[in-house]
Amino acid sequence: MAGRIPDQFIDELLARTDITDVVASRISLKKTGQNYSALCPFHNEKTPSFSLNPNKQFYYCFGCGAGGNAISFVMEHDHLDFIDAIEVLAKDAGLEVPREKGAPDRYEQNAELLKRLSESAHFFQEQLIKHPDKKRATDYLSKDRGLSGQIAKVFGLGFAPQGWDNLLRKIGTRAEQQEQLLLGGMLIEKKDQPGHYYDRFRDRIMFPIRDSRGRVIAFGGRAFGDEKPKYLNSPETPVFQKSQELYGLFEAKQNTPILEQIIVVEGYMDVIVLAQHGITNAVATLGTSVNSQHIRKLFKLVSKVTLCFDGDKAGRAAAIRGLEAALPVMQDEKQIRFLFLPEGEDPDSLVRKEGKESFNHRLEDAHSLSHVLFDHARNQVTLGDEEGEAQFARNAMEMIQQLPKDLTFRSVMIRQLSDQSGIDSNTLNNTVFKTRRHFSPESETPDTSSTTTAPYSNHDDAPDLNYYDNTLGHNNYDDYPPDAHSYDADPAYTPTRESAGKKPYGNKKSFKKGKFNQDESATLPPPTPTLSRVKQATLCILLQPNIASAIEIPDPLQNKADGDLQLFCKIWRYFAKHPKNNVGHLLGSTTENTTIQGIYALLNHQDAAIKLKLHNPSQEVTETIQALEKNLGSEHLKKQQRESIDTDEDKEFWRNKIDQIRRKKS
Ligand code: UTP
Ligand code: MN
Repeated sequence: MAGRIPDQFIDELLARTDITDVVASRISLKKTGQNYSALCPFHNEKTPSFSLNPNKQFYYCFGCGAGGNAISFVMEHDHLDFIDAIEVLAKDAGLEVPREKGAPDRYEQNAELLKRLSESAHFFQEQLIKHPDKKRATDYLSKDRGLSGQIAKVFGLGFAPQGWDNLLRKIGTRAEQQEQLLLGGMLIEKKDQPGHYYDRFRDRIMFPIRDSRGRVIAFGGRAFGDEKPKYLNSPETPVFQKSQELYGLFEAKQNTPILEQIIVVEGYMDVIVLAQHGITNAVATLGTSVNSQHIRKLFKLVSKVTLCFDGDKAGRAAAIRGLEAALPVMQDEKQIRFLFLPEGEDPDSLVRKEGKESFNHRLEDAHSLSHVLFDHARNQVTLGDEEGEAQFARNAMEMIQQLPKDLTFRSVMIRQLSDQSGIDSNTLNNTVFKTRRHFSPESETPDTSSTTTAPYSNHDDAPDLNYYDNTLGHNNYDDYPPDAHSYDADPAYTPTRESAGKKPYGNKKSFKKGKFNQDESATLPPPTPTLSRVKQATLCILLQPNIASAIEIPDPLQNKADGDLQLFCKIWRYFAKHPKNNVGHLLGSTTENTTIQGIYALLNHQDAAIKLKLHNPSQEVTETIQALEKNLGSEHLKKQQRESIDTDEDKEFWRNKIDQIRRKKS
């Protein structure tokens, strides 16, 4: 850290600064007697309740209670920390900020590097305007991605043209510059020619990653088409630790008039497109899951953080990591919300489709932390009845215990759990629950750095022999899993028996109240026999509902009276009709107890873990249907040998059969 700013200097600065100038240069003031009044910049209002007293050099808002001196006004209004606010005011007053002796900070140490990165950003921006090939880039941004020139400018987007040394020749002409560019991840050393370099970013749209003060510290570069990796990011450097940064935070602070809430999304493009639609308060993690440090950082700025996830399984798994990250850094008066998007959508696609208002409605309806926590605890239950309740309570307490001890919110959660499980709060409080081990290690050691999950491709330094022949030679796409959020791709996640059978979100049915039984809760569930073929097919559809619409079940099978088969058909019918829904929706819309129990029994079965990873669930289901049909056909033939042939039922059966064969052929 740089040295401390002496107290006398702060006194002097305040003496030289008139708060009236400071405030008047930022909002419009109206003289009212001795004081000034204004619409408060810190909350939404129609009639002024913000008041400024020039004699006493302070402001106060009767509406929201904000108040303070010139320094706190700049901090709040410009979203700056104390030191930065002092810097701003000192600059206005024409003063140099003195520092008591101390070690230079990360930025002072790396001033040269930051300069090179900033020049690089300018270079890429310039290419978007000047390069002969610029149309390719501007067309991509405007036509393919629908971005305005204005928003491209706000985010400083640029273009890295094709070629191996565009940046090198422009910014790295001297050895010292090359050294800095190499340190900053902009250049790569040729394997066979030490001391010789080439550009890391080639033929890509460039997204400068800025720190919260607006300094360019890294880049993300997007390929124009389907080349891999889709996004190439700067490696970790002395000024860039990806697990600590949030893309778009600086821009959000700059462009959001009243920053009360921050939305955390997944992608660069999501942030930019949301901003273009007027939702300027979104930030993105940089290819990692959201961690405790991110949340702590955001809680310093705002009191409400909404984590946004895809509606699919990967999104729900990511949400649980978000939950685990949030628990240890929760504070009273702060809120975490969880927004699940419809399957197949990201914020970019959704806000385009629905517009700002709808997206804002979704934000308003986002789930609370307690909702997600209790849902997750419930979804992990693998046992029935009373044991299930004990397991539910234990799951929930394991998470609740990660909340800071002195939090009022923690007691509230325990009380809620007590209501839901019928176990009194004291018992819950006094029982020792094991700490969870199988999710984000971040949440257990909130202060360690860079424990991230999704291992995106960030290093472009893999051995490469013929890079001049092959523009794709440098990607290490192999490191980039097709589904970076899947459990398999998450090194921190070890599937356990409990979590393997986990049910997807949205389950509204809660378990009955009952007595907590510690002894029983300690025993493992009894071994379950392997599932029948129909049940396996049912499980396939439950876990991957999107396959239902492409599957057909012939009427004769649907009309067969067998209980398992009926459940199978019922579930298939539901998802064929509502292809976008998940098991949560199904459970929510079902009132029959046998159906609900049947579904739970399947989801809790150990085979659920296997089915979840199935490559071609449709095929398994189709084959099952074919086998059932065959069975039915031969049953029918047998029956026909015994009985008369031309009943209505028979005619119907054969009509269907022929119909089906015809359809298969066409
Ligand atoms: P997605 O693959 O979800 O892409 O990556 P996206 O944001 O929707 O991108 P577009 O709309 O196709 O352009 C989400 C985020 O994951 C990181 C990036 O930060 C990206 O914004 N990522 C993704 C990488 O770092 N590398 C990749 O190859 C892919
Ligand atoms: Mn996208």
